[in-house]
Amino acid sequence: MNPIYLDHNATTPLRPEVRDRMIPFLGELFGNPSSPHSFGQDVKPHFQEARQRIADQLGAPPSQVVFTSGGTESDNAAIKGVAFASGKGHIVTTLIEHPAVLQTVSWLAKKGFDASYVPVGSSGVVDPEDVRKAIRPDTILVSVMHVNNEIGTIQPVREISAIAREAGVPFHTDAVQSFGKLPTRVDDLGADLVSIAAHKIYGPKGVGALYIRKGTRIEPLIIGGAQEKRRRSGTENIPGIIGFGEAIVHAERERREIFDRLVPLRKKLVEGLSEAIPELRINGDPEKTFPSTVSASIGRIEGESMLLSLDMEGIAVSTGSACSSGSLEPSHVLVAIGVSPVLAQGTLRFSMGRGTTPEQIDYVLEVFPPIVERLRAMSPLRASQAG
Ligand SMILES: Cc1ncc(COP(=O)(O)O)c(C=O)c1O
Repeated sequence: MNPIYLDHNATTPLRPEVRDRMIPFLGELFGNPSSPHSFGQDVKPHFQEARQRIADQLGAPPSQVVFTSGGTESDNAAIKGVAFASGKGHIVTTLIEHPAVLQTVSWLAKKGFDASYVPVGSSGVVDPEDVRKAIRPDTILVSVMHVNNEIGTIQPVREISAIAREAGVPFHTDAVQSFGKLPTRVDDLGADLVSIAAHKIYGPKGVGALYIRKGTRIEPLIIGGAQEKRRRSGTENIPGIIGFGEAIVHAERERREIFDRLVPLRKKLVEGLSEAIPELRINGDPEKTFPSTVSASIGRIEGESMLLSLDMEGIAVSTGSACSSGSLEPSHVLVAIGVSPVLAQGTLRFSMGRGTTPEQIDYVLEVFPPIVERLRAMSPLRASQAG
């Protein structure tokens, strides 16, 4: 069996069509699109086409799409940008955001801004009414992600943005996990700011975009040039942007088909794991979870040991904890949905993609339960400590 990649929420392989589309821009089409000479001007229409493609997917005018270096920069640019334009005020976000949002908000809190973190229940879905309660007269931004990267829950951003709009507060959504996988038209999301990235949809790494609705008060994060209408200075990552523009066309074309294929695969994985492994908890709301993602907490074992054992069998997954980022803290998302810190450390995330097959899932279900049995037999944690 070839290696099995079940970590698509972390990143995805570059699509061959995307790579082919990028190659001329790593060679003869090297010009800077800001240059008036023919080298620059030869690149310009391709650059414009890529922006148009991203804008079409967002249902937005291309002038409102700003290219960035990826999801993290887009989140920083959105949140710091609004905060810097306001000078002071209060930000509402949730306990389950990506660190690119959470750490940006807590950094601003140290600089004198106020922040409220809306909790989530065990389902991992934000209750829009909790957002309403958190909004204050001095609230300058509400930021709630679309699809959670760890447990896959889909958030009711439409309802939340309607509440923000009623209160006259701009709404940002981190759509890094949903762009190209679910509909993300900005008017349907009700969003003023949307963060997206290419590498989650079989595009290149290091490129993303921030949608900025016309009229949103925002300061640029990166200054020093006139690119992106002065909203993000610096010579653009043209090969990356061209690749992003190509990736989104393919992603949109096969979006529904992949979704429909993932639903039974998720069911198979969830049922197979639940049947074969005692004391296993599947995290997130089964009805409101994007079908690529299965977050499974397995009592009495460290996530890292399971990950390494699976890797030796040629299966790549990720831990549900923040260990992979060098921290021993349990995942903030799992803790927020009520998973105990010990159980959170024993959590794996399986994230499927366009190349995932039923045979691969069968193989996971064949090799994983014996790994759990073996590791549990060696574990110093007894059932009562599994949390
Ligand atoms: C929800 C979410 N936001 C932001 C990011 C960061 O994106 P990037 O890796 O492009 O900086 C990720 C990537 O893991 C993500 O899943």
